[in-house]
Amino acid sequence: MLLENKKFLIAGIANKYSIAAGIAYAMHKEGAELAFSYQNERLLKNIKPIAEACSSKILIECDVSDDDSIKSSFKELKQCWSTFDGFVHSIGYAPSDQLEGDFVDVTTREGFKVAHDISSYSFTAMAKESKSMLNENSALLTLSYLGSIQTMPNYNVMGLAKASLEANTRFLAASLGRNNIRVNAISAGPIKTLAASGVKNFRKMLSQHSKRAPLGRTVTAEEVGNAAAFLCSDYASGITGEITYVDAGFNIAAMPLNEIEND
Ligand SMILES: NC(=O)c1ccc[n+]([C@@H]2O[C@H](COP(=O)([O-])OP(=O)(O)OC[C@H]3O[C@@H](n4cnc5c(N)ncnc54)[C@H](O)[C@@H]3O)[C@@H](O)[C@H]2O)c1
Repeated sequence: MLLENKKFLIAGIANKYSIAAGIAYAMHKEGAELAFSYQNERLLKNIKPIAEACSSKILIECDVSDDDSIKSSFKELKQCWSTFDGFVHSIGYAPSDQLEGDFVDVTTREGFKVAHDISSYSFTAMAKESKSMLNENSALLTLSYLGSIQTMPNYNVMGLAKASLEANTRFLAASLGRNNIRVNAISAGPIKTLAASGVKNFRKMLSQHSKRAPLGRTVTAEEVGNAAAFLCSDYASGITGEITYVDAGFNIAAMPLNEIEND
């Protein structure tokens, strides 16, 4: 098993549809011991059954908009694990008024700040706070989206925040490489989750994706989870600072093949 004798914290499960849930199941299947952090009390009932299915009893509240909450969550984790082997940061947020309408018209200073704070800075903040507890050969992983490098309707300021998150991945990789800690990101194709439904007309994005992607479909949280398990394992020991696409190939195709070739 890829992750035997390794301990990982999973941050960012809101419910059973969360990408982080798919990642947790895949990492558990590969033998990892898991702990979970959740944004607030309201989500606890959704996370409990997932933690149970992964044989974990470690559930810790952590609101990444608050430094004290991040600090105390790692303190709490330390009572269970003195050291561990990495974490998955599957967290993103922008106020809903930022994810609907024309970019120039709807983007505000406050929306920009919040999107970057929660979706990018929090990855650095978690790395900073946990660094002293991370074993050699640890791996950190975050989740990005194609909006970091290409435009699309309604994704707006989240695209900028994802660009920041990808740069963040590279700078963290350079910084923590000294301690033999790897840092990577998965750029996932669109998947219907709570966060995704905050983007206006998300359903239309899913059908566009299937039309253009070489594999002719979208991806599942399980497929993202499998790639995550690999990137967090010692099989990926030579990979750091990378953005790996798990998107059925969408990002490499400029046009859908079948519509034009069959004309
Ligand atoms: N669903 C997609 O199509 C898609 C595609 C590519 C990347 N992503 C990224 O994957 C990650 C996970 O999103 P998801 O699609 O699974 O949706 P989700 O809604 O299930 O997960 C988002 C998580 O972010 C957490 N979060 C938000 N603000 C927080 C805060 N202040 N403190 C702690 N946690 C906070 C939420 O509690 C939630 O668990 C996000 O970074 C998202 O941008 C999603």
